This record gives sequence, C-alpha cells and structure tokens, in this order.
Amino acid sequence: MCGIVGYIGKSNAIPFLIQGLSKLEYRGYDSSGVALYDNGKIKITKKQGRLKVLEDILDSEKKENVHLGIGHTRWATHGNPSDINAHPHISNSGKIALVHNGIIENYIDLKNNLIKKGVKFSSETDTEVAAQLLGSLYEGDMFETIKKAVGMMQGSFAFGIVCSDYPDTLFAVKKDSPLIVGIGENENYIASDIPAVLSKTRKICRLKEKQIAVLTANSIDLFDFEGNPAEKAITTVDWSVDAAEKNNYEHFMMKEIMEQPDVISATISPRLKNHEIKLDDISFTKEYLENLGKICIVACGSAYHVGCVAKYFIEKLTKKPVEIDLASEFRYRSPIIDNNTLVIIISQSGETADSLAALREAKSLGARVLSIVNVVGSSIANESDDVLYTWAGPEIAVATTKAYSTQLSLIYLFALYVGKILNAIGDEEYHEFIESIEALPQKISEILDKKEQIEKIAKKYYQTEKIFFIGRNVDYSVCMEGSLKLKEISYIHSEAYAAGELKHGTISLIDDETLVIAVATLDEIFDKTVSNIREVRSRGAKVLAITTVDKSEKISQVADNVIYVPKSYDSTTPSLSVIPLQLLSYHVAKLRGCDIDKPRNLAKSVTVE
Ligand code: AGP
Repeated sequence: MCGIVGYIGKSNAIPFLIQGLSKLEYRGYDSSGVALYDNGKIKITKKQGRLKVLEDILDSEKKENVHLGIGHTRWATHGNPSDINAHPHISNSGKIALVHNGIIENYIDLKNNLIKKGVKFSSETDTEVAAQLLGSLYEGDMFETIKKAVGMMQGSFAFGIVCSDYPDTLFAVKKDSPLIVGIGENENYIASDIPAVLSKTRKICRLKEKQIAVLTANSIDLFDFEGNPAEKAITTVDWSVDAAEKNNYEHFMMKEIMEQPDVISATISPRLKNHEIKLDDISFTKEYLENLGKICIVACGSAYHVGCVAKYFIEKLTKKPVEIDLASEFRYRSPIIDNNTLVIIISQSGETADSLAALREAKSLGARVLSIVNVVGSSIANESDDVLYTWAGPEIAVATTKAYSTQLSLIYLFALYVGKILNAIGDEEYHEFIESIEALPQKISEILDKKEQIEKIAKKYYQTEKIFFIGRNVDYSVCMEGSLKLKEISYIHSEAYAAGELKHGTISLIDDETLVIAVATLDEIFDKTVSNIREVRSRGAKVLAITTVDKSEKISQVADNVIYVPKSYDSTTPSLSVIPLQLLSYHVAKLRGCDIDKPRNLAKSVTVE
C-alpha cells in the first residue's frame, strides 16, 4: 500500500505533488520521490525517509516551470526502503517514468525476459520491471505501449506514468488497486485516494477496474484495457481531509478492520498459483524439514496470539512439535534450541525489542529464523534467515487487527507448504484447506456486513466491568486476542480462560455481574464448550456466544446473545471468529468514550525491553 499522485496543468506541479503526498503518508512513508517533465527531459528526485526529506531537496532546487509530474510515497513490499528502491522508476531510455501502488506478481518472469534483451536493472523492486517493460515496448505511441504492457503484467497495479515525448499528457492505469482522477480548472490530477486532491478540488472520478486514463490540462479520457473509450462517473466529495484519510470511518481501527478482506487477499493471492502454494523466495529442502526437530514460535502481544492459533494447525499439518513462547520469556529461559530448530518470529512492526532479542538469542543457539513481518526492511526482517511479508499496508491504530489477520492467513499457507513437502497431508485435505483459505476474504466480508448487529450487542454490555472470554483449542487462542483487544482500547479488565480450566478455581469469580464471551466454533469439542457455558450460566453470568451458523439450535438454548460466523474449515475458523471480537471491542470502547486509535499507556511498536 503506497500513495501515488500526478499533476498536469498550467501551474507549477511541485506544490500539488508534495501537498498531495503529505495527505497519503498514512499509506506508506519509508521513502518518496517525484518525476518531473523539465526542459524536454524527465527528471527524477527520490529519497529514503519521510516526505520532508524530499520536500527540502525540491525546495532547495526552487523549480518553477514544471507543469507535468508524478509523485510517490512508499510502503515497501519488494526491496528494502532505500534511495534506489524508492519510486519513481525510469526506463533505460530515460523517456518513461512511473510510480506504482500494488504488487506485480509475475515480475520475476518479466524481469528475466527483459534481462535477456539486454535491459539493465538498478533496483530490487517489482515496479522497475513495469518501467523497463514500457521502455522496451515503446515505439513512439505511449497509449499502445501501455495497452501492450498491462496485458503482460499480473497482480495489482495503479500507475502514474509520464513520457518525455508527451509533455502535455499524464497517463494512469488501474487494476486491483485504488486510483482516482481529480478534476480542476485548467489542470487535472490523479491520486491513490481522495485526501490528496481535496486541497484543489472536490470533483473526482474513481477509475473502474482495468482502465487507462489519459489526462491533459483540459481533458480526461478513460479507456478499458482493449482501448475502448469508457464513461466518466464524476462525483462531488463532501468529506473533510481527516475523514478522507480514514476512508470516512471515525477511527483508523475501524478502517483497518474493514480493510481485512482486501489485505488478506493481497497477502495470500500472490502466494497461491493454481491452488498450489508458492512462498516467495523461501526454500526449505525436504531434507531440512525431515531433520527438523521442532518449531518454536516467538512473539509478543497479538502476534503471540497468532502463534497460539498456529501451534495447533502446524502440528496437525506437519506432525512437527511446535512450542509457543512470549518473546520476553523466551530470551531468559535458556530455551533448548539447536540447528534442528526452526524459530518463527511474528511481528507487525518488525521492531519490537523483545522479539528482536529473542531472534538474536535463537540465532546464537544455532536455530534457523523465519520471520513473519509487515514492515519491509525492519530490523527483524533484516536479521532473519527467511522472511514472509504480510501485505497489510501501514497499520496506524495501536490495536492491531488487519496485521493479525494477515499473519494468520500467511501462517496457514506456511503450514500447508511444509505439510505438503513432508507428505504429512493428503491431497484432498490440502486442497480443501486451500479452498477454505481462499474463501476467507468473502466470509469476513459477510461478517463485516453484520457490524450493526454487533454494535447493538455492545450497547447492551459496554458498562459491564467483569468479562471473561472462554473457549477450547484454537477458540481459546482467539479468546486471548479478543480479551486483549477489549482491554487495550476499552480499559475493561477482562480475562481469557481455557473453558475446561474454569472449574479449577476461577469460576469462583463468576456471578450475575459477569459477562462471559464464549467462542465455540469447533465441531469436535462443541458440546464440551456448551457444558462449560452451562456452568457459568448457572452461576448467574450473562453469555454472549460466537459460533458457526450450523450450531444455532444448541447454542441459542444456552446463550443470551449469539453472533454467528460462516462455516469454514475448523483450522481456518479463527480468522472468522476473531472479527466479531474486534468489532465488539471497538464499539464498547467507543461507547465508553475511549481514545480508540491511541489508547493510554500504549505504543504501536514497543522498542524497549
Ligand atoms: C496489539 O494490538 C498491540 N499493539 C501489541 O500487543 C502488539 O501486538 C505487540 O506489541 C507486538 O507488536 P509487533 O507485532 O509489532 O511485534
């Protein structure tokens, strides 16, 4: 998730490009750059770091006479944040430059073909492949060139493109990545999102799927990928800039909850080719995996809760023992680790001090370290032997939601990948599992469509001060995450508890002021959890149950309220049952007037021990 902008008009392009990018930094901020049409040439200026670095350089150059330009603020996916990997990227000819938001999934194949044709590459990015591809196809007609190129690229891409032979034209492309056109007076704009153009205009046109836009100072023409003209649907925006950055949601947390179907697709689809799993450039040999003694998952907070869920299905699918550790404990318990141990570090930020220290401890003991991280180029990513990136985009709200869900989806793929290599899983189960993963975005959307129902339930319970989350197996792990979400943003002291463990003491706390949130989604142990629900009800507790639609008859007899999630493969159901708990926490915190995006006492990344 990056931010792109573009300007064509009579005025100086630079002020709009910088101002527009500053409104898109919530989409990525590890590097930025512009490409300007300047005296017959395309001039690129780009730098690693926040936008201010670029702004200071452009200020010092005091360029006035620039009327065409594109700009970019980056959230790295391929290639660490650096000056070279920053956008824009330019063709070897120096004629064509572009900025990109999305992921070109077949970039390695395209790159190898271009290298065979003598094309030189300077960056590690998938995006430079698009610039070089356009350069290699260009024969003087830019529109025809773009048409050819988009037919050869797979994945998601929104492009802003300039060509030195077209000083009065700005080109743009949209496929599976957001892009709007802003309509001005004697000037027009492109941008990844509305906040970027609001300082100039409120008249926008959202590009539809697979469209090419050709803009001049006084015209905007849209075409489909075959070159057929397309209608322009112009709307007027009445949002404030702040609302626009949150996509008109009140908080980044709700915006990020609603983004989960898209970011899960963005994270899994490049790794699923014809129902087969392709894990980027990670390669585990059969021999290495067969000799693997154990897997240790180490993390903090919500990332640790992903690990708690993962333990169950990695053991199930690979028949390898899995230990799960809090990083702050792992580093001081002299773990039994050797070079037959694979340590998996999970971290959204990639900078959490305890997780980084645990990584170094594991490596010092000879383990191979795989990390699952959201921030490209972060310390944990850089120091790991292997990295799997979640492509959730920047997560602004302190309470993680979309990063948790993308980590879970990615670790499903990892477990299946290893299970397949070890022949520990049959073909039929393998493909059933993959289908259930591919169905997650749609099923999560179905749950999100019911968010009003969850808001109503929150209104019933938001003043409750004693809340227990109970569940068994992976349901218990989801309870841990649900309880943390509630605690960190609503400040209610809740507790997650293994449902079968309650009767060994804690049930003494249950009374008629207690709300018990029971997660009961697994067929095999459903009845066990129902009997635990009966235990707490008989002590006066109110019960809110989260379960799958097929269990309505039994659960409605023992719960005061029930939230149903679609039926899925047991092992992937945690990705569904966590969603109502995220929404419940959000609405309870909102009803209690809490600062949801920036809860007290917390930081988005805990970089101290
Ligand atoms: C979760 O909502 C919290 N922000 C926190 O528990 C977080 O999961 C933990 O600090 C780990 O952060 P990381 O994923 O960036 O390593």
